[in-house]
Formats: sequence, structure tokens, C-alpha cells
Amino acid sequence: MDYLRIQGPTKLSGTVTISGAKNAALPLITLALLAHNPLKVTNMPEVADIKTLLKLLQNLGASCSLENHVLNVDTSTVSHTMANYDIVKTMRASILVLGPLLARFGHCEVSLPGGCAIGQRPIDLHLKALEQMGAQITIHAGYVHAVAPEGLKGAHIIFDKITVTGTANIVMAAALAHGKTVLVNCAKEPEVVQLCEILRDSGIDINGIGTPELTIIGTGGKTIEMVDFEVIPDRIEAGTYLCAGAITNSTITLERVRPDHLDAVTAKLEQMGCRVECGENTMTIHPATELKHVDIITQEYPAFPTDMQAQFLALATIAKGASTIEERLFENRFMHVSELQRLGAEIKLSGHTATVIGPCELAGADVMATDLRASSALVLAAMAAEGTTNVHRIYHLDRGYEDLEGKLRALGAKIERLKE
Ligand code: UD1
Repeated sequence: MDYLRIQGPTKLSGTVTISGAKNAALPLITLALLAHNPLKVTNMPEVADIKTLLKLLQNLGASCSLENHVLNVDTSTVSHTMANYDIVKTMRASILVLGPLLARFGHCEVSLPGGCAIGQRPIDLHLKALEQMGAQITIHAGYVHAVAPEGLKGAHIIFDKITVTGTANIVMAAALAHGKTVLVNCAKEPEVVQLCEILRDSGIDINGIGTPELTIIGTGGKTIEMVDFEVIPDRIEAGTYLCAGAITNSTITLERVRPDHLDAVTAKLEQMGCRVECGENTMTIHPATELKHVDIITQEYPAFPTDMQAQFLALATIAKGASTIEERLFENRFMHVSELQRLGAEIKLSGHTATVIGPCELAGADVMATDLRASSALVLAAMAAEGTTNVHRIYHLDRGYEDLEGKLRALGAKIERLKE
């Protein structure tokens, strides 16, 4: 197993190029299941989660190749409809094949994702919506068995909670359903918006893009002539590099980024005393003279993203005063707190709120990554800590950050990947 060794404290400078968004790319890969033509997708992030999903598509019978961030995918040869446990257990987002497979073939079998490190993450809203569209769903031997022999039918669906992959799954199902589907209380994340835009550009009648209510007229089971496209930049990777500048007291510039997708993150950095300068596709972070405490609540887009919570918790450890960070989306997303405490952070946890008392004197230690974003928070804290930190179990990090250590090293960090 690999681990990262980081020498701190470190100063960064220069420019970093942001990769394509993993969370946009995942549903866009499963969107290809609705196409009858081969597709070319550019700016594809080369991270483990993407490779896992491509393997799943290949198991279904698709042909895929990913080289130099260009994905060529052809699903016209897909003949299997079972997403098995071996792959789904390694990545929850595999559930994104459920809507497209059911809509195209009228049946499918997808392993239940099970628990994950950030808490119980049910898929009840995905299943309930598909049932409203006429699917019969049974759960047997750890698998979701879904059938809709006559195809899916348009329906009026109100999501009880805002769900990102749930919205994506049902939008894809609705695109091939018979008639009109109205989806209420949808996710408005940029990743969902891009999925809808590609469907629209491919000729699907879809309205309300970027709003909580989407109306989609399905093709009645016919596959789609899909356009080629480029994956949007990763706003969470970008936010992590902004935090890297802030925590190391450095000015760095991000290229190939969408500043408008990061408004909530930028606002919090500015409240902490940093200055963020935005160009059309660039962002430059200028560090604070003295980092101030901050209060954060994670919520759905366009509010502050839960996927940036851990990185800001790391940043708050070196800010002056008491910061509070409330996690509203996931029940158990504070596993990184005890690891940050090993580096000397003073953090109190009460229910869903972490209170950080800063500034703390961070000192290098051995720490363990617990989930994807928690891993990057540990790397950030390590760059601010005095001495050597070893971050173990970085397979979490490899799921979603492309070449994190290479990009940080190019900015001047003392970071190396070693074998246990
Ligand atoms: C997506 C992102 C993840 C991000 C999260 C919230 C991808 C691949 N992953 O995850 O990085 O942290 O959005 O922004 O895009 N819920 C239910 N029932 C359901 C579905 C969800 O109760 O059927 C709950 C979840 O437990 C959670 C909340 O709804 O409390 C939001 O989850 P959701 O938006 O679905 O997260 P994901 O799409 O899994």
C-alpha cells in the first residue's frame, strides 16, 4: 500500500491546472448507456473511481478507452444488465447505471452499495422514483432487481430530500421514458446541470436546467444520438488547492477552473481574510495577513459543499479564534477529526458540529486517511505542520484527486509517495 510523506511547514508558489470533475464525469459515463453512437469525452480525470466505472461498463459489454484524458466509449455492444457486488462495493456511484440500464433494456440487476465511511447512504429515493415511473423493484440477495417490461413511464416525482446522484439517475431514466416526467426538489449542482445540458444538446426536450424543477420528455425507449463533450473542471479539487494556498500562507494560481462554481468556498476564504482574484478560467489565492476564524454550514449547492468540509476544518486549525463547522448532509463525516487531533489540532465534536480552537501548533505525525476528502485535509494540515507527516491509506485520495502529490510538488511542496 502507498503512503505520502510530507515535510512541513512548506511554502507554495506557481500555477496548478485543475482536472475534470470526477463527480461530473461519473454520471456522464453512465449517460453513454443511453447513446447508440460512439462518444468522445475530453478533460476526463484519470482517477481510480473513473477507472472503476469504466471497468463496470466493460463488464456490461461496452468498449471504452481512456488515454491522455480523452475517453472513447461505445455502449452499442452492451448485452449484460448486471452490475455486480465486486465493483459496486468499491464505489457507491456505480448505482448510476441503474436508471440508464433500466430505461434502455427494461430490466437490470444492480448490487446494493451498502455502507460507507461517511455514514449510512441509502438509495431509497432512487428506487421510489423509479417505482413511480412504473418499475417493479425487489431486493433479493443483496441486489436491486428492477423490471419495466413495457418501458418506464413519465411521472410527477417529488424528491423528499435533495439528492445529487438520485437526480442524475432519474433524469437519465426519464430521458428514455414514455411521456413527460416532472422532477421536483432536484439537485442543482453544476455536475447535474452539465448532465442535463448534454441531454438537451443531444436533442432531448428538457426544461428547468439549474432550477429545482426539471421537466423531461422521454424518447419512448429509443436510444439517443449523443454529442461529444468536455467534462467541467473539478470544483472540489480547485477548492482544495485554494485551501493549500491559504494554509501555507502562499499565493498560487489555479488554471482551467470555473470560479462561478466556487462562490460559497471563495466567500468563506475571504471571510477568513484571504483574497481571491478571479479571471474567466483562473483563480489566484492571496493568503491572509492573519487567518480569522469562520462559521460554516454544509448544504446543497449553491451553499457550502460538504466535500470541502474536511479541508476547511484543517484550515481552521491555524486560524485565530473559535471556528464552527456544522455538517448537515452526512451523519458521520468527521472521521478526520481524530486524525487532525494527532497533528495537534484542538477540535471539539458535539453532534454534527465541530468547534476548532485556533491557532494550533501543528506537529507532524503518522495519520490515516478515512475517506476521499478527509485524505486531502490531512495533506493540507501536514503542509502546515512542523516536521514529518506520513499519511497512510491514500487509496482514498487516489479515488478522486489526479496526481495530487505531483501537482503539489510542482508548486514547491516536499511530498513523496512511498510504499508501506
Ligand atoms: C454526491 C457526491 C458526493 C457529495 C454528495 C453531497 C457524487 C458521485 N458524489 O453523493 O461527493 O458529498 O453528493 O453533495 O456525485 N439520501 C437519502 N436517500 C437517497 C439518496 C440520498 O436519504 O436515496 C441522503 C443521503 O444519505 C445524504 C443526502 O441525501 O444525507 C444527500 O446525498 P446525495 O446527494 O444523494 O449524495 P450522493 O449523490 O451519494
